[in-house]
Amino acid sequence: MQQQQMSQQMKVGGKSSSGLSSKGFNIPMRTLGDGNSIPALGLGTLNMSSNEAFNCISMAFKSGYRLIDTSPVYGNEEAIGAALQECLKQGLVKRDEIYVTSKLWITDRNSVKDAVKKSLKALRLDYIDLYMIHYMTPDIVKDTLMIERVSTQEVWRQMEHCKDEGLIRSIGVMNCPVVMFLEILTFCETKPALNCLEMHPYFTQDEAMSFYKKLKIPVAAFSPLASHENLKTLDLLPESFKKLDLMSDTLIKDLAKKYGKSPAQIVLNWHMHHEQIFFPGMREENHFLENGEIFNFDLSQDDLKKISGLNRNARLFDRIQDDNYSYIPYWL
Ligand SMILES: NC(=O)c1ccc[n+]([C@@H]2O[C@H](COP(=O)([O-])OP(=O)(O)OC[C@H]3O[C@@H](n4cnc5c(N)ncnc54)[C@H](OP(=O)(O)O)[C@@H]3O)[C@@H](O)[C@H]2O)c1
Repeated sequence: MQQQQMSQQMKVGGKSSSGLSSKGFNIPMRTLGDGNSIPALGLGTLNMSSNEAFNCISMAFKSGYRLIDTSPVYGNEEAIGAALQECLKQGLVKRDEIYVTSKLWITDRNSVKDAVKKSLKALRLDYIDLYMIHYMTPDIVKDTLMIERVSTQEVWRQMEHCKDEGLIRSIGVMNCPVVMFLEILTFCETKPALNCLEMHPYFTQDEAMSFYKKLKIPVAAFSPLASHENLKTLDLLPESFKKLDLMSDTLIKDLAKKYGKSPAQIVLNWHMHHEQIFFPGMREENHFLENGEIFNFDLSQDDLKKISGLNRNARLFDRIQDDNYSYIPYWL
């Protein structure tokens, strides 16, 4: 299977000016529901401050990453845009070699095109590779008050329109419950290219995975290392999950020893076999290097099963903990 996955690859690697050695990682490409390609591994930027953006983005490109995942609500789109512009200007990468995603926030459901244009301006790009509806909710809600109801059909129609106009290459959903995904399929002209869900060995989302497999729609994982850094700061983490620490889990540590890899590499290799598209957050140079080196080994079927056995349906990123977001539907 690995052979097949590697057949379509993004040959990457760059010159280093920061002491970072050029590894020339071969990051495999995956096929989206609309036939477009997406790198299997990318950089998540949720916890990246504006000050860190240039360093992280250029480090990502130099070490071989091409996918940058952001959102207007991460508060770093402007800084990422400036970093992208500088990297393109320096010739570190070309626009058609990189892959940038952004997302539609809840309060922008009635003005998708304006939101896309705002992101394009901040990112200093003329198209976004993948634009996702960040959270599925039928209402525009602010501070627990419903402001307006905008149907999913209307939002999707606007997403399709932006794609037709060339502002977006692929359109997808995030945190989308199966039933809402099915609803979109009843009226869409263009199918969602993917659904992006929280996924890691503590939350394997098996039922959702088998549903999307049947539909031949890829699933991407956010928070693939089950980090709860951001949630601790926001005090949004349920008490029962506070002690979960995937990187220190005995099984993961034992497997790391067995394969001569780091715990993060073990978990990301599991993702490679599980849902195949994932973007961990990274800011440290050694994390960029380690995480790129996960496509050159295979965990055994037995060990993959053991890791999946860690599942405890631990949805760490549960906005329902926050009154301002308690309307977000989190069904299967
Ligand atoms: N609701 C949503 O839509 C949503 C929610 C959460 C996340 N996301 C997306 O998914 C991305 C990833 O999620 P996340 O950042 O929350 O969690 P994550 O990817 O599970 O974990 C990120 C953490 O893992 C650390 N790390 C990375 N590589 C490592 C390695 N090799 N060894 C040890 N530690 C390592 C990072 O450290 P350093 O930063 O110090 O390198 C960071 O603290 C986000 O950035 C965002 O793009 C979306």
